[in-house]
Amino acid sequence: MNDNHITTDFEKRLIDIVGKAFVFTDEATRLQYGHDETEDYSFPPTVVAKPDTADEVAAIMKLANDHKIPVVPIGARTGLSGGALSIHGGIGLSMERFNTLEIDEKNLQAIAGPAVITQVLREAAFEKGLFYPPDPSSMGSCTIGGNVAENSGGARAVKYGVTKDYILNLEVVLPNGDIIWTGANTLKNSTGYNLTQLMVGSEGTLGIITKIVLKLLPKTTHNVLMLIPFFKSGQACEAVAEIFRAGIVPSALEFMERDAIDWGLKYLDDTSIDIKPEVQAHLLVEVDGNYPDVLFAEAEKIMGVVEQFETDEILFADTEDQKNALWKLRRTVAEAVKSNSVYKEEDTVVPRYELPTLLEGIKRIGKKYGFQSVCYGHAGDGNLHVNIIKGDMTDDNWKVEVPKGIREIFELTVSLKGTLSGEHGIGYVQKNYMNIAFTDANLQLMKGIKQLFDPNNILNPGKILPDTIV
Ligand code: LAC
Ligand code: ZN
Repeated sequence: MNDNHITTDFEKRLIDIVGKAFVFTDEATRLQYGHDETEDYSFPPTVVAKPDTADEVAAIMKLANDHKIPVVPIGARTGLSGGALSIHGGIGLSMERFNTLEIDEKNLQAIAGPAVITQVLREAAFEKGLFYPPDPSSMGSCTIGGNVAENSGGARAVKYGVTKDYILNLEVVLPNGDIIWTGANTLKNSTGYNLTQLMVGSEGTLGIITKIVLKLLPKTTHNVLMLIPFFKSGQACEAVAEIFRAGIVPSALEFMERDAIDWGLKYLDDTSIDIKPEVQAHLLVEVDGNYPDVLFAEAEKIMGVVEQFETDEILFADTEDQKNALWKLRRTVAEAVKSNSVYKEEDTVVPRYELPTLLEGIKRIGKKYGFQSVCYGHAGDGNLHVNIIKGDMTDDNWKVEVPKGIREIFELTVSLKGTLSGEHGIGYVQKNYMNIAFTDANLQLMKGIKQLFDPNNILNPGKILPDTIV
């Protein structure tokens, strides 16, 4: 191996640190760790290493820093912005062996290694009567470490917040090999700069997270779930803000355009839901709590709000099976779209009331540049996933026209006081749009932070900051 100056000697020193069984240079492994769920990108690392302790990570970082070799921390590779892609080769640092999990029932906290699957944490908490709310659609396969790196959200964020709201303290290995704890295991903390929250969402560019202390909540016992069909997708978006203005905070408020739900049903081979041809969009709305009477009253209030719009009959999920089927359908949309066409996924987010304007603008821009889009997402958060479909567009138009259209969508988003990504991160694919959301002063501050942590730019280089920054 000689790209990135990874010599046989360097490889031997990696083996000295983690053991021969955990260093890989074969092509199959490199390819496996060279992609995530972002489009069809493939950027294999030169070597894959799988350390087991923070001390091993620290030794690897010291070695890489001395030799100026790039290191890319890799989780479950479910990311949608290319954060885990080894775009400059180097060491792909798989964190998969960091999978310890402890539930601290006395303090309602969890202490997790970054490789713990989000669903595993949620279930371990449930078993003790506790609740870890963040629920990205990929929660069955994504990891807590990846969720922290991207500040992942999910459907329940609208009531309970996103990953950052549950992170109390982090053990982090810095690019120079120092090991720090960022904060304290407390619910409150006004002690100095907030390094914990600086690490959250930093997409593996500032340090490598080796342990995570999380806040848990008591579990809620009941929920009501309803699927509301709208004849006009703009009205579905308008109804979102109205539900909150009526005094309800749903535990989920998801939007799906017609194509999203149709493609999801087809992908799952599910014929259980019959949708009238005139229906353009759905809202999937959940309320949760401990008192069924309160939840039914809230559901009625929501029905009162949506009655002001043109809706078809509301489907209430009566059984756990029906609820699971509806959630499965919603969580499958991304995969269903991917299976249908080459696509690009954007993660726009605006203040909730601006959602109808955003949706209308996306469709207008699509017409202008000749692309179809399938939109769905966490409407209660104003977070709309925009899937741009290649369909039968020519390769030239796909390469030239679509980026112009995406730029316009982001300009619209920012003009509505929104921003580029609500929960998927910037990573590799959105970095060159960052100057739409930020002035040069902002970007220089971010660059300064990166340089302070990582003066040799070895940790996940080429992510977040635009290529043009000087
Ligand atoms: C979802 C993922 C793509 O909402 O964020 O399904
Ligand atoms: Zn999402």
